[in-house]
Amino acid sequence: MWSSRLVFVLAAAGSAVGLGNIWKFPYITGENGGGAFVVVYLACIALVGVPIMMAEVMLGRAGRMSPINTMRKLASASGGSGFWPVIGWMGVLAGFLILSYYAVIAGWAVYYVGRLASGTFDGADGAASQAAFDAFLADPWAILLWQTVFMAVTVFIIARGVARGLETAVRWLMPLLLVLLLVLVGYGAAVGDFARGAGFLFSFDVSSLSVGGLLTAMGHAFFTLSLGMGAIMAYGAYLPGRTSIAGTVTTIAVLDTVVALAAGLAIFPIVFATAGLEPGEGPGLMFVTLPIAFGNLPLGAVVGAVFFLLVSFAAVTSAISLTEPALAFLVEQYNAKRTRVAISLGAGCWLLGIGTVLSFNVWADVHVVGGLTFFDFVDYVSYKVLLPVGGLLIALFAGWVLAKPVVAEELGFDGWQERLWQAAIRFIAPAGVLVVFGYTIYQSV
Ligand code: PHE
Repeated sequence: MWSSRLVFVLAAAGSAVGLGNIWKFPYITGENGGGAFVVVYLACIALVGVPIMMAEVMLGRAGRMSPINTMRKLASASGGSGFWPVIGWMGVLAGFLILSYYAVIAGWAVYYVGRLASGTFDGADGAASQAAFDAFLADPWAILLWQTVFMAVTVFIIARGVARGLETAVRWLMPLLLVLLLVLVGYGAAVGDFARGAGFLFSFDVSSLSVGGLLTAMGHAFFTLSLGMGAIMAYGAYLPGRTSIAGTVTTIAVLDTVVALAAGLAIFPIVFATAGLEPGEGPGLMFVTLPIAFGNLPLGAVVGAVFFLLVSFAAVTSAISLTEPALAFLVEQYNAKRTRVAISLGAGCWLLGIGTVLSFNVWADVHVVGGLTFFDFVDYVSYKVLLPVGGLLIALFAGWVLAKPVVAEELGFDGWQERLWQAAIRFIAPAGVLVVFGYTIYQSV
């Protein structure tokens, strides 16, 4: 069990804050036209993400087992069917798929630590930064090397058992990461085109939002809060009984959102001030823009190296949580050895990740389905399908199946709080997911 509420907050925040905030949020915002996308994303966080996160923590704490067995236990105790553990199984699959590419991108961040430290970007402009990134991306062996390094570190930490190191890492490194992001925002304000950057993020122009953008925004709300696959449920299993779930979850959601918006405010002013860069650059966005800032800041090589190191740490604390549902299940069910499970899981993810490594070079023109590369495909299935469906099922279970006394015991709501919670988990959150899915399907047929 976590020793206190703070440890849980730190672990859950460590899971939530990661590449999703710093790498993915800016680039998908850029691809989806900015402001309107951001508004939909924020709405999804507040209306769908927060209630579902509360549900996950509640289920985890009520079951106190791995997500698969927690769902078994709670479903049978509430007279539900044997169907519900599917939430746990889907989560294991989603975690596996996500980690396979997460480790590849995290490897890019690790690689950039050395690149910045060695002064590659001193005085760099847009063209130089783009060229450095393109050259790296064209070399599958280099990407493979850093993916391997990242995966090895993650497996090592998981095998040793997580809580202690995780706590210290998040407590000290996360605030530092936020500070450096704010330094970058300051750079953007001083040197970049801050007005356009901020305008891009916050001006609400509905016409810029596509149907695909809607699904992306919702999928990302799940992804960035680590929802829909049991990671938060698995962590909730260790939460002390007395802690208020609503307050804790709100804290984590706000923190996660602040980091994402800071990353956006750091990146877009640079994009608009640099010739040759555009918001829709794609997955390379952060790797092309931020080194330009560091290359032109005093002490930029050192600060930049530290920044990418912190991003790598943030990625490790998220990666750990991606494996927790599977790991906890295997250890609990089969008494498997933690080390052995960690190595097998890591090796499997690493192998699947090679498909993502190749998606950026050798297989760049190989399309699995409908114009999607291997990376795009794994990404699509996990965060636009598995996470929202998992989240929907979690909401339905928590709202309609789970026995009332359990909910009352865990959440301790009464009066208006109780009514608000009921409305959110029974209707608003499921409707949010269904409307976005329905609309997407309707538009694409
Ligand atoms: N939330 C993490 C991020 O934003 C990614 C993640 C997704 C972690 C799902 C766990 C579960 O980087």
